[in-house]
Amino acid sequence: MTICVVLVASVDSQLEQEILDAGSEYQHLAGLPKALLPVSGGKRVLDYWWTAIESQRQISDVYLVTNAKSFKHFERWATARGLPSQNVVNDGTTTRASSLGAARDLLLALNRCGYNNDRDVVVVAGDSLFHREFDLAALVADQHVRAGSSLAVSYRLAEGEAASSRGVVEVDERTRRVTRFVEKPCGDETVSRQACPLFYVLKPAVASLLPEFVESNEGKPSLGSFMEWAVNDKGSNVSSVRLPGCFRLIGDAGLQDYLDMIEHFERMDSPTYSGALGRGRLTTRAYARVGLFGNPSDGYGGKTIALTIANFWAEATIAPSERLCLVPHPLFDPCDFGGLRDLHFISRREGYQGGMRLLQAACKRFLEYCVERGIALPKRNFTLSYETNVPRQVGLAGSSAIVTAVVRALMRFYALDETHVPVEILPNLVLSVEAELGINAGLQDRVVQAFEGLVYMDFDPSTFEAKGHGVYERLTASQLHAALPLLWLAYSGEPSDSGAIHSDVKQRWRNGDADAVQGMSAIASVAAKAREAIRLGDASECRRLMAENFRLRRKLFGDAVLGATNLKLISIAEQNGAVAKFPGSGGAVVGTCDVDRLASVRRAYEREGFVFVELEPHFSDDGEGVLAARVGEVALDV
Ligand SMILES: *[C@@H]1O[C@H](CO)[C@@H](O)[C@H](O)[C@H]1NC(C)=O
Ligand SMILES: *[C@@H]1O[C@H](CO)[C@@H](O)[C@H](O)[C@H]1NC(C)=O
Repeated sequence: MTICVVLVASVDSQLEQEILDAGSEYQHLAGLPKALLPVSGGKRVLDYWWTAIESQRQISDVYLVTNAKSFKHFERWATARGLPSQNVVNDGTTTRASSLGAARDLLLALNRCGYNNDRDVVVVAGDSLFHREFDLAALVADQHVRAGSSLAVSYRLAEGEAASSRGVVEVDERTRRVTRFVEKPCGDETVSRQACPLFYVLKPAVASLLPEFVESNEGKPSLGSFMEWAVNDKGSNVSSVRLPGCFRLIGDAGLQDYLDMIEHFERMDSPTYSGALGRGRLTTRAYARVGLFGNPSDGYGGKTIALTIANFWAEATIAPSERLCLVPHPLFDPCDFGGLRDLHFISRREGYQGGMRLLQAACKRFLEYCVERGIALPKRNFTLSYETNVPRQVGLAGSSAIVTAVVRALMRFYALDETHVPVEILPNLVLSVEAELGINAGLQDRVVQAFEGLVYMDFDPSTFEAKGHGVYERLTASQLHAALPLLWLAYSGEPSDSGAIHSDVKQRWRNGDADAVQGMSAIASVAAKAREAIRLGDASECRRLMAENFRLRRKLFGDAVLGATNLKLISIAEQNGAVAKFPGSGGAVVGTCDVDRLASVRRAYEREGFVFVELEPHFSDDGEGVLAARVGEVALDV
C-alpha cells in the first residue's frame, strides 16, 4: 500500500504576487492559494492531481500539508471531496520567512498518519501544474519501485535553463540508478542536465530516514536536500525515470504560465477535443537503401557501405486520437476481396507480408524500450497509418523502412529525442522489432536508414559487444559524387522465389568452416578498401570493388543459391560494359557505368522485362540522423 502526501504549503508564490499586480481583471483570484486557482470548467489545479491520485487503487490515504494562511481554503476543498479534515495538516506558517521547508512539511504529514515505515510514500507538489498526460499509475507501479527502489522523476533542462535552482541527478544509464544527487548545483558541480521536479516515490527504507535528517538540520531543508543526503551519504537506492521533454511539472509558475495552462486544459476538456483528429498530425519518413560494398557480411560481423536513396521510401503518419488505432493499408493489408479466386491471386502474388504486424510490433517494442530505459511516456492515444513505395521482395529494405518511420513517428509523438534513442541505438531497436516477427536480418539496413546518406559500418563483434553497437561513419555526398557519380538499379517487376535454393553459408560460417569464414571476411574487406577508394575519389577502384563484391559472393554462395534471375540481372550489366552487384538479398542489382552507356544499359534491361531506374542518393539536410527524415509536420498540441 501507498500513501500520498500533497505539499501545498509554499507561501507568497510568484503567481500570487503577479495576480495582485495585474489589477482588477484578476481580482477574483487574489488571495487564493495557487493550487486552488480555477483552471477549466470549475476545476482547480489541485483537482487534476486529485482525480489522478483518487483513481489509484494502491494509494490508501492522502494527506495535504498547507500553511496556516491557506489552511481554511484547503480544509473546505478537502471536505467537499470526502477527504477528512484530519488529513489536512497545518504547518503553522504564514510568511515565506517562516516556512519550514518541504522536508519538514513531509515529516509533519508522516507523523500525522502515524507512519511506521511500512508503506511507500508518494510525495508531490500540489501547486505544480499537473499535466493531464502525466501517467501517475505507471510511476507508482514502476518496475524499480516493485523491485524495492525509490523513484525520482526527472526531465532534461532546456537549453540555457539554469540548473542552480533544481535538484539534479546523475544516473547510471544501464541500471537507471541515481548515482549522485546534487541539490541546486553551482557552477560545474555536475555535468548532468536531468533535473527533478517535486515528485518522488519513497520506499520505507528512505522515508524512515526523514526524522534523522530533519532533526540534524537547522534550516529549511528542501526535499531535494533530503534526497541528496539519502543518496550520497546513506547510499539509498533511488531510480530515475525520465519525462520526455513534452511536459513539465512547473513549480515556480507565473501568471502567464497559469493563463497558458487554462487554455490548454480548456482545449483538452472540451467535448470536441477527441474529434480533433487531423490537428497535430505528423508524418515521418525512412528511405530505402542500396548496399554498395561488403554486403552481406553485416550479418557475419563484417563491414559494409550502404546508401539511402530518395527514389523509394516508407512513411508513418501519427495523430492524437481518442482511442489507439492502427490503420491497415488498403493495398498491403487487404481484408476485402473480389471473391475467392481474387483472394487466391493476391495471396500468391503478394504473400502475407502486410505492414500491420510491423506497426503492432514496433509499438510493442517501443514501449518496452522506454520502460527498460526509464522513460515515462505521457498518456495519450494515437492513430497510426503507413504508406510505402518501396518495391517488394527485391531486397531494398522496405520493411525496416516502415519500422524505422514508425519508431520516428512514435518518438516525435511522445517528444523523445536523441538523448532517449541515440542514433546508433535506433538500428538495434528496429532490428529487435523485426526479430520479434521472426524476420531474419542484419543491421546494415537499419543503420543506414537511421544515419541516412552514405555510411561505412564495421560490425566487429568485440567492439559491438563492448559498445552495444558497431562503428558507424558518415561519408559525404561530395565523396560519393566523385567516386560513384552514376548509380542505377534494375529489378524484376515480378519477383519470384521459385527455384531459389536455401543457402547453408550461415550454418557453415557458425561452424567455423574455413571457406565460409574466409569468404565472408574477403567480402567484408571489400568495404574497407572501398572506404579508402571513396575517400580518394577513385572511381575506377570503386567499380572494380563492386565487381569483386559480386564475384566473392557468387563463389561463396554458388549459382544455385543465387538463382537464374539474379545471375541474369548481373550478366546483362557485364554484356553492356557496366558493373553490377546485389544491393541486398537479391531480386535487384545496383550498378554503375559510363554516362554514355546509360541509355544502352537501360534498353538492355527493359528489353528483358526488368524495371530500370537511375538512383537519386538521399542525404539528410542537417546531417542529423534519428529524426532527420520528416515531412509535412504540423506542431503537436502539448
Ligand atoms: C540497495 O539495493 C541492493 C540490491 O537490491 C541491496 O543489496 C542494498 O542493501 C540496498 N541498499 C540500501 C542502502 O538499502
Ligand atoms: C485510450 O483509449 C482507451 C480505449 O479507447 C481509453 O480507455 C483510454 O482512456 C484512452 N487514453 C487516453 C489517455 O485518452
